[in-house]
Amino acid sequence: MTCCKMKKFDIIALGELNVDLLLNRICGFPEVGKEIFAKEMVLTLGSSTAIFAANAASLGARVSFLGMVGHDDFGAFVKTSLEGRGVDTSNLIEVSTAATGLTAILNYDEDRANVTYPGAMSIMGVKDIRPEAIAAARHVHISSIFMQETLHRDILEIVRLVKAQGVTLSMDMQFDPEEKWDFDYRKILPSVDIFMPNEQELKALTGKDSLEEAIKEVRPYINILVVKMGSKGSLVITKDSEKKLSAMLNQNVVDAIGAGDSFNAGFITAFVQGKDLEYCQYLGNLAGAINTTAAGGTGAFKSKKAIEDAARKFFKQDITL
Ligand SMILES: Nc1ncnc2c1ncn2[C@@H]1O[C@H](COP(=O)(O)OP(=O)(O)O)[C@@H](O)[C@H]1O
Ligand SMILES: [Mg+2]
Repeated sequence: MTCCKMKKFDIIALGELNVDLLLNRICGFPEVGKEIFAKEMVLTLGSSTAIFAANAASLGARVSFLGMVGHDDFGAFVKTSLEGRGVDTSNLIEVSTAATGLTAILNYDEDRANVTYPGAMSIMGVKDIRPEAIAAARHVHISSIFMQETLHRDILEIVRLVKAQGVTLSMDMQFDPEEKWDFDYRKILPSVDIFMPNEQELKALTGKDSLEEAIKEVRPYINILVVKMGSKGSLVITKDSEKKLSAMLNQNVVDAIGAGDSFNAGFITAFVQGKDLEYCQYLGNLAGAINTTAAGGTGAFKSKKAIEDAARKFFKQDITL
């Protein structure tokens, strides 16, 4: 077996990539046959997995992205954006059979209307994942299962392929927009080292009304279960232990977009650095809290120094990344 220190990457972020086209200050609501104006437009790197990858890289992990984009300008934008955040893009797959995925987000104060064209990210499946690419890392993180049609279809084969390379695996299933929750947790979770849903998703997945019942239902299949609970903090559960850690409350939340992805980035960065579960949970909670101090999922994670400064300024936490 290859020594961990010789591995090229700490983490492979595997999956969805798209761009977000944000339209703000829109005059009225769109109507078929009419044209209306938006007074502001921003194009940014989208997707939960990309937020995770960018923030884990800022926190100090060596991250590579294995995902699919189209052979087009948005694909080039995705690549440049990831590289700008220190994420390796040598495992990106560029296809000419589909365009890069895009979400058009129409913002109306607290509410938003989204239209997503999944494009290239919906056609990536097990056949696109080279075992050598996985074996070059110590850990793989997969997110947003239900947003990726082919990956969703192949998920059991994918987790088995990943585990066969001797790496650890974390998964944030995320919400199912169709609410079918077609995810065979009895078969999948035994191959997942760290399963990271939020409270609402875990209850929906198991069809249970209470968190306690939901945990009881998945407990026989898990290795480590991390439940994110928004401003209540998080729970870390193993087969024989359970630890709750309250959130470091931010009184002035800018927005909570990507808080769960930032939590994952903090937790997994500590995990691949060999830290104990207690510290992983601490860095997860802290990263989730820091996420809420700036706009979007990556705004507060521009550099190690920016993260350390935010930890001190907003939460009185002294960390050295
Ligand atoms: N208002 C907040 N103040 C401080 N920390 C927060 C806040 N909201 C979320 N967090 C932290 O971020 C983590 C992830 O947020 P959560 O909203 O539960 O995830 P998701 O985005 O997946 O739903 C939480 O477990 C918590 O530690
Ligand atoms: Mg989430």
